[in-house]
Amino acid sequence: MQLRVVDDQPWDVQADVMAVPFVGEPAFEGSLAELDRRSGGELSTLAAFGEVKAERYGVVVTAPGELKAGRLLAVAAGDPETITRQVVLRIGSTIERRLAGSSVKRLAIYLGDLGSQISGGVEVVAELLARGVVEGSFEPATIYRDGVKSAPPELDELILVAPGAEIAALKRAAERGVVIGEGANLSRRLGNRAANDVTPEVLAGEARAIAERHGLSIDVIGPEKAAELGMGMFLAVGRGSDNPPRLIVLRSGEQGAKDSAGRRLALVGKGVCFDSGGISIKPADRMEEMKMDKSGACTVIAAIATVARLAPGTPLMALAPAVENMPGPHSARPGDVVKAMNGKTVDIINTDAEGRLILGDAMCYAEKLGATHLVDVATLTGAVARALGDQMTGAFGQPQEWYDAVAAAGERAGERYWQLPMIEEYRKDLDSWYADFTNTGSAEGGLVKSALFLREFATVPWVHLDIAGTGYFRKKTPYAPAGATGVAHATLVELALAGATKA
Ligand code: BES
Ligand code: MN
Ligand code: ZN
Repeated sequence: MQLRVVDDQPWDVQADVMAVPFVGEPAFEGSLAELDRRSGGELSTLAAFGEVKAERYGVVVTAPGELKAGRLLAVAAGDPETITRQVVLRIGSTIERRLAGSSVKRLAIYLGDLGSQISGGVEVVAELLARGVVEGSFEPATIYRDGVKSAPPELDELILVAPGAEIAALKRAAERGVVIGEGANLSRRLGNRAANDVTPEVLAGEARAIAERHGLSIDVIGPEKAAELGMGMFLAVGRGSDNPPRLIVLRSGEQGAKDSAGRRLALVGKGVCFDSGGISIKPADRMEEMKMDKSGACTVIAAIATVARLAPGTPLMALAPAVENMPGPHSARPGDVVKAMNGKTVDIINTDAEGRLILGDAMCYAEKLGATHLVDVATLTGAVARALGDQMTGAFGQPQEWYDAVAAAGERAGERYWQLPMIEEYRKDLDSWYADFTNTGSAEGGLVKSALFLREFATVPWVHLDIAGTGYFRKKTPYAPAGATGVAHATLVELALAGATKA
């Protein structure tokens, strides 16, 4: 897809579609009034009919009148009070998705006054709209089928229309948005792939290909090396499957170097290629969703690749412990006691609380590799989905300064996080009568306890992002199909780029 930024008026731009976001009620003032007039009053007529409404992400497509574009598309940005970076991003995706099944090749989007609605102004709008269009083009139906007619169009050209703007700066911003959107889509494509397709070994192979493409170093640790390293928790989960576990370690930058923010940042992603629950087996209902339990791994792998594209040479690590959690003659049993890499003994009372086991060893290994700051991303608990749903990621962290740094990156990325407390009183519920602790407690406060468990494996600043609610959508929306969302990818990229090596 070619990117073009033009400072022409929207009615002068040639394209298959001219998309026009509008803020608030469809009143069409200023340049939108002129657009409406030149469309032959199409917009105001549709508004009078109630077909154009203020409801966010609502779209109408009309004849263009005397516009140079083939069609005029109006999309509602909704109440100006609640327009955020995420809303601008999703406007981009909504436009692209609304064109699904069409033969549109050249899409123009008029930036209008969106720049005055969010921090960062028109450059950030250009970045987010371009990223949104790329993310909006993602269609999981194409993963296993050819010739899907209902897919969003593959554009030849995206034209951002910003009269009076500084074109070069906007183009750079939009290009950054395209790269970030492509990274999210890489994560989503991997995340959506079925468990009979993406085993831990296959995920490691994908990581290898990505490493080669972007000049990353890669190390893949199998069961033997993991045993030497003392990763008893990782091995306990992995041994239940005939598809052996793999700890994928990707690195960029000079070995041992700190980034320009003085950190050696490690991103750790949960890579459970299928979570049956193991011997503590899950109910059949919706178990098929558990192919998504590798989303955290897919996201950290994609994030380090994106950072390599945007700021090559930036010191960064991505670790993805990949396993299949299966019941079988070799599986860990409830009540098995294993020794973690950090020497702590763990009483596995529930084999379905497996994510924290593989993450704990991977976090410990990240520190052994020199990580000074950790962020883990995981579809860790059903509880976070019950508490916050699919729009807000639950997050924990310590110390607060590090949490705040991650939250600020999330803000820049247009993603939403809600900090949850690590309630000290609940830690004793993980006490085991003969190991250092158990891997679950009673169900009450289970979300908090999952973080208290992970905390046992972090001795440096650490943040935990529980994407079990936000990592995949059960239903489609105007801005995204059902399935993997790629959530947290952009946040991790922003966080890492705060320590970018300048070219
Ligand atoms: N992968 C699941 C969490 C999950 C649930 C992700 C629903 C996405 C949707 C995780 O491994 C799990 O099974 N968690 C248990 C923890 C419990 C056993 C303490 C849960 O949430 O029920
Ligand atoms: Mn589980
Ligand atoms: Zn799981």
